Amino acid sequence: MAIKYDERNRTLTLHTAKTTYQMLIDAFGKVYHLYYGRRIDDVSLASQYVLTDCGFSPNSFENRSHRDVSPDILPQEYAATFSGDYRVSALDLITSEGIMGADLRYLRHEIREGKYALPGLPAAFAGEEKVQTLSLTLHDAATGLEVELLYGVFEASDMLTRAAVFRNAGDSQITLKRALSLCLDIPFGTWELLHFHGRHCMERTAERVPLMHGIQTVSSSRGASSHHHNPFVVLLEEGANEVQGTCLGIMPVYSGNHRTDVEVDQAGSLRVVSGINHEAFSWQLLPGETFFAPEVILCYTGDGLESLSHHYHDFLEQHVIRSLWRDRKRPLILNSWEGMNFDFDTAKVIAFAEEAAQLGIELVVLDDGWFGIRNDDNTGLGDWYANESKLPGGLGPISDAIHGLGMQFGLWFEPEMVNEDSELYRAHPQWALTVPGRPPTMSRNQLALDMGRKDVVDHLYRVMADLIQENHIDYIKWDLNRNLGDLYSHALSPHRQGETAHRHMLGVYDLMERLTRDFPEVLFEGCAGGGGRFDAGMLYYMPQIWCSDDTDAIERLSIQQGTSVGYPLSTVGAHLSACPNQQTGRNTSYFTRAAVAMHGTFGYELDPSHFTEAEKQEIREEIAWYHQLYPLLHEGRLHRLTSLEMREDFTAWEVARRDGSEALVTFVVTRTRANDHGYHVRLRGLAPKARYRIAQAEFEGGRLPREDYLGRQELDALIFTGESLMYAGFTLPPLKGDYPAAQLLFERIP
Ligand code: DGJ
Repeated sequence: MAIKYDERNRTLTLHTAKTTYQMLIDAFGKVYHLYYGRRIDDVSLASQYVLTDCGFSPNSFENRSHRDVSPDILPQEYAATFSGDYRVSALDLITSEGIMGADLRYLRHEIREGKYALPGLPAAFAGEEKVQTLSLTLHDAATGLEVELLYGVFEASDMLTRAAVFRNAGDSQITLKRALSLCLDIPFGTWELLHFHGRHCMERTAERVPLMHGIQTVSSSRGASSHHHNPFVVLLEEGANEVQGTCLGIMPVYSGNHRTDVEVDQAGSLRVVSGINHEAFSWQLLPGETFFAPEVILCYTGDGLESLSHHYHDFLEQHVIRSLWRDRKRPLILNSWEGMNFDFDTAKVIAFAEEAAQLGIELVVLDDGWFGIRNDDNTGLGDWYANESKLPGGLGPISDAIHGLGMQFGLWFEPEMVNEDSELYRAHPQWALTVPGRPPTMSRNQLALDMGRKDVVDHLYRVMADLIQENHIDYIKWDLNRNLGDLYSHALSPHRQGETAHRHMLGVYDLMERLTRDFPEVLFEGCAGGGGRFDAGMLYYMPQIWCSDDTDAIERLSIQQGTSVGYPLSTVGAHLSACPNQQTGRNTSYFTRAAVAMHGTFGYELDPSHFTEAEKQEIREEIAWYHQLYPLLHEGRLHRLTSLEMREDFTAWEVARRDGSEALVTFVVTRTRANDHGYHVRLRGLAPKARYRIAQAEFEGGRLPREDYLGRQELDALIFTGESLMYAGFTLPPLKGDYPAAQLLFERIP
């Protein structure tokens, strides 16, 4: 039994394979959080807590003569404002009578087989695994609010999910001002925060910081999970690193305004609250109404960051991504964006596709510019019909030509947006989010549609579904190129305007749900000006997400490495583009660019008609190498061999088969230096006693190091054992040139 209620001790305990989570219900119905950590069987963990009478930390009424029992000090399972707990709270509200906050007490609990679902929201599903749900309901007598805390216990996967449901069981109107999904108290230990910040073209850069007394916040109020602050955060106990130490991951399954606050309180204890960002948020709950807060996926491990990453990778692939494409080999894509931009017509696209077919490309994507009057990024969004001046006869001739060449056809959309200069906006100005009497904030000269409106979502569904059917579309790139600015819905009453951003997100999910349900064969790739919406919520609908608009191989090292902490390689949209790179002007070799891009979905983003014959031959060889490596890259485990913060002069990634039979190690040198001593790494995930050799070594320009090792041995003659590679390590001789790379395939000797 993964979930146990001990009536004598009044404890509720959740067990996964290696973790335990425990709560205590006291005599007055207060629910305390006792523990989340390494698995401990069959014992109450209440005795960890010493009662202290701490000045200015109040008591509940029942405990007025027990001054050492304070909600301000003891760990709470779910904390609300105005309850005697001054730490950061998960719930804040006001009723129509003006009552604020809540004093939440135990009402009931229920243990259910299977995994709970959240209507209208993405959430993990059980799949093949046996999962239990704990429903724990608290209530506040003064307001009539019920808060149902949901816990999904994935015992075999060793993961927990949490969510919260708010029900107005009283007679007054309740306005939720903050309705978070998670409150987690961590009473002991010294912790650090790992978060993933960035900007457009610099997403998910890992930063590890100490915690201060007070509150540190990772959040977005941009209407998308954002380039700037990914919703995923990790707490690491001091000293934890890739291979050892305690790590606790918090991954909201939400793509809109999110917020995670981490507070270190007067006692040095930690509280984490996470969910929808309450900035510019409120939600009216009339009597009888219910509000669902999104899910948060929790992972605890005592075995270091790599173990945490592997837990999340497996969990997202098995319990969050639903697409049929999760288990299928993804097509090798050529995308038109960097190669042609807005400058194409039918003949050019067909010529582009013909070149692609010769190289071995499997799917051609026509990116931005095919619709409405769209010759640059100022007009046309919303007019989802083919631009007849560029594409006479519509998309049909292109789709037919691409399919005729034996490839698949993909198309770009930006459904949630509209340009003022478009037929759609002229017909329905009220469909855009704009504040009456105030000029809208502009971004890329476009406005956001009010996706909270059913008529908008219905319209978009119809238009997109027709295009998919009529043109035999195999793939959709779903882009989003601005953040929300003017949170005012012309369809909502004044007192409901605080609901606009979340309703917008629910509408986006609704459209995605309908299209992915009705067109399960279509491969959807998420995108938001690169990776501005790379989160677990999106992955529920789309198995891959364009990781960044920065396609420079060297910039991609930190972007893809930061992304890899939470998200598996199979989700990371990565293409090889032309040099000098469009974003940085940097030159790197094809080999280096391919080596980085294949740690993702791999594809191309350039105009192949510019290639010389020699380049075409190089690309074909690269593609053959990629196909050879595909099963390893997609079924293996990623090991980050160099530091997350990129402290070395090179970055090394290993992808090893789970049985240790094979491992690819990729080195990319970010700073070549004179008199270098080579690049030393310790591999991981191998069988210690097995013998290994280098089955294949691919180098920049094909130069194999010759007799570079002590004893004058040659690289391809070296014999290792798993333990020699993992404990002593392997050293690659120094490489020369700008940003050189090497890839070595280690193979177990039978
Ligand atoms: C941003 C995307 O990330 C790019 O790949 C491209 O699709 C452009 N938008 C098109 O406008």
